[in-house]
This record gives sequence, C-alpha cells and structure tokens, in this order.
Amino acid sequence: MNSSLFIIFFVSFLLVGFATSYDLDHDDNEGGGGSSSSIQCTDDLPSLKFPFSTANFTCISIWLSKGFVLMYQHTNKNVWRFVLKASDNNGYISVGFSESGNMVESSAVAGWIPSNGNGIVKQYYLSGKKSSDCQPDTGSFDISKTTIVRQASTSKLYMAFQINSTTTPNTKLIYAVGSQPSSNDHMLPMHSSMSKSTVDFTTQSCLNCSPPPPSSSGHHQWHGIFGFFLAAIIWAATVSAKLNC
Ligand SMILES: *[C@@H]1O[C@H](CO)[C@@H](O)[C@H](O)[C@H]1NC(C)=O
Ligand SMILES: *[C@@H]1O[C@H](CO)[C@@H](O)[C@H](O)[C@H]1NC(C)=O
Repeated sequence: MNSSLFIIFFVSFLLVGFATSYDLDHDDNEGGGGSSSSIQCTDDLPSLKFPFSTANFTCISIWLSKGFVLMYQHTNKNVWRFVLKASDNNGYISVGFSESGNMVESSAVAGWIPSNGNGIVKQYYLSGKKSSDCQPDTGSFDISKTTIVRQASTSKLYMAFQINSTTTPNTKLIYAVGSQPSSNDHMLPMHSSMSKSTVDFTTQSCLNCSPPPPSSSGHHQWHGIFGFFLAAIIWAATVSAKLNC
C-alpha cells in the first residue's frame, strides 16, 4: 500500500470516528439520560411543613411535561424519605416502585387533594390494570409520615412519604397522573398519562428521565453514520483508483 493511500484511509477512519462520537453525544443530550439528571433542590421546602426535614435531599427531574421531580434521602439504613413534586393537575399523582419495570405487580404511592378537604395519600398494590385491581391501603411498603400539600404560588403539589425498609426500594419507577379516586372507595382510577425511569438512589443518576427523543431520530443517526462511512469508502476508493492509474 503506498503512503498516500494509507493516509486517505487513515483520515477516513478518523472522520468516521468523529461522526460516530458526535452522534452519540447528541443522543445523550436529547435523551437526557445518563448521570446528569440530578438537579439542584432550589424550592422553598421548609415553608411547606413536611413531616420530616428535607434539608439534604437529592432532587431529580424525572418527567418534564408533568413537572415531576423526585426528591429523596436515605436517612439511615432503614429509612427512605421521598417527596414527589408535580404540577397541580386536580387529580392524583403517583410513583410506583416496580421489580419488573411494569406497572402491574408494583407498589405505588398516590396522593391527591379533594376540592373540599385535606390531602389524601395512600399506598396501592397494583395487581392488574383495572381500577378495581388497585385497592387502597395495599402494597408492600411500611409507609408512614404521609402528606400532600399544594404550593399556591407555584401551582405545584408536593407528596411526602417515608418508607421503612432494610432493603433499597425497587429502582424501576413508574409515574402516573389521573383523575381523583372516588371518596367512597378510594380505588385508583386508570391513569391518564404515565412515564417510567430507573433511578439509582446511590449514584443519584437516572435512566430515561426526560421525554424520549422522537422515535425516528435513532434511525436518522444510524443512516447518517453508515452514509458517512459509505461515502468515505467510495471517496477513498475513487482517489486510490486515480492514484493507481
Ligand atoms: C444535612 O447535612 C449536614 C452536613 O452533612 C448535617 O450536618 C445535617 O445534620 C444534615 N441534616 C439532615 C436533616 O439530615
Ligand atoms: C420507621 O423507622 C423509624 C426510625 O427507625 C422509626 O422511628 C419509625 O417509628 C418507623 N416507622 C414505622 C412505620 O415503622
């Protein structure tokens, strides 16, 4: 192989490498996944009078379109404290902890504020998809210190709860919003919207915490990379053919 041909191939591979790493970086920014999901806890939380201090909480933006931010702290080896912040939707907000990643067979905590009363927070074991499969005061967590309040100045809901557990709660989280349960039976109505992510409570990182990028973009990127690769090969072959003449 003569030296100019070698240089052509070398430059082609450099360019392909550059294009590939550029596209991966781009993907990260769009997906919002990875390790940069933790945000600063800037809210004026003490004025909301939670049943526990939120002084050293970690805050992670988990579902942008519904204003969901998960705040949590592992206070000692058996106590996990959570505050779920969300845009006020006049309905329920919930977070489920799932082993499989599916809503069914997860334990969820849901809260809402009836128009004529105090906030209600309940735990649900989601045994199926129908409302009747979601009975109140079921679920696998030992929960306490529950409250849900509205911050009028921001139109945000804050739902607080504590889980006593010797093991880490399941990290595949499922978020949902829906209309308020009826005051007779408190069965959880089917969600109107839901989202999922995986939060690593120790490293404070989150997978899939932003809305996913448009489904076509992944194809575009791969077409782009392969197109570039093909173009580089054709270009190299053309040039080398010329050199050989
Ligand atoms: C928050 O962290 C500081 C510094 O580590 C500590 O002194 C304080 O006790 C913590 N507060 C709570 C409520 O955990
Ligand atoms: C949870 O653990 C804390 C600290 O050990 C304890 O004070 C509290 O009573 C426990 N709550 C429940 C519901 O077991």
